[in-house]
Amino acid sequence: MLSKIAVPLAFAYFAIAAPGVQKEARAAAVSNPSSQKVTSSAAFSSGAGNTANSNINDGTGNRGTDTYNCYYGGWQSFPPKSEWIEFDAMWNYTKSAMSTSCSDLVVGSCSSGAGAFGAGDSGEQIGQIWNAIQQVAESSLVDHRYILATIIQESSGCVNVCASTNPDPSQPDNPGLMQSDGGVTFVGNSASQSSQQTSITQMLIDGTQGTALGDGLVQCINQYGNIYEAARCYNSGSVDSGNLNDGEGATDSYVNDIANRMTGWVYADQSFDQC
Ligand SMILES: *[C@@H]1O[C@H](CO)[C@@H](O)[C@H](O)[C@H]1NC(C)=O
Repeated sequence: MLSKIAVPLAFAYFAIAAPGVQKEARAAAVSNPSSQKVTSSAAFSSGAGNTANSNINDGTGNRGTDTYNCYYGGWQSFPPKSEWIEFDAMWNYTKSAMSTSCSDLVVGSCSSGAGAFGAGDSGEQIGQIWNAIQQVAESSLVDHRYILATIIQESSGCVNVCASTNPDPSQPDNPGLMQSDGGVTFVGNSASQSSQQTSITQMLIDGTQGTALGDGLVQCINQYGNIYEAARCYNSGSVDSGNLNDGEGATDSYVNDIANRMTGWVYADQSFDQC
């Protein structure tokens, strides 16, 4: 996982990540990732699991608010699903920012383990991200908004994001839209449209359903039953359930960032240091 220090320099920017701090090792290999799905009954009651992802309005009509609030303590002190923005609105607010996401991250060689290796996202790539979110959400039963929030948090939605380098050489690097545990890196802008779609979908399978090298959102959701402890699990590999702002060596703000993205935060200052 990337460190998430949002640096909103202007309103043309998303509150984006500054890559650097690594997640700790997550758990064991996931076999046959694309068949992995949410099974925890707690997850379906908290909203982490969703059997109706085809409904892009989520029945809430909630258009969200672009502010950054502070949350503390355990998962029940973070916004409940009744306060989550609807997927359609979350998508509308973030998709224009995706078009500048790779240049915002700075296109370069990836030698520092940060930035992007190509321009993006094109309109076609943004549409393919939508397709992939809806496909992977429907097969994994992970709430589509939580997948989108994780994409924005991890890569700003830049398909060409560099893999972040794990400082522990025994651990895999974290590539792709969700900075997965050793999954795929994007095939690149010059590949065919169908190859690009396949690659984007695979990046989402890797982050959502896990890889041969480690957990995705599904495994963290099934272990903890809610998106907030799952977010800490995905970022840090371990969870202090009484204090989700304890980054366990990874990114302290990560769970607050995800919570705010679930309620409409896009461009407002990331003010976690004042929490
Ligand atoms: C999102 O954008 C689409 C296409 O412009 C529009 O039809 C829809 O009403 C928008 N949804 C929200 C919640 O703003």
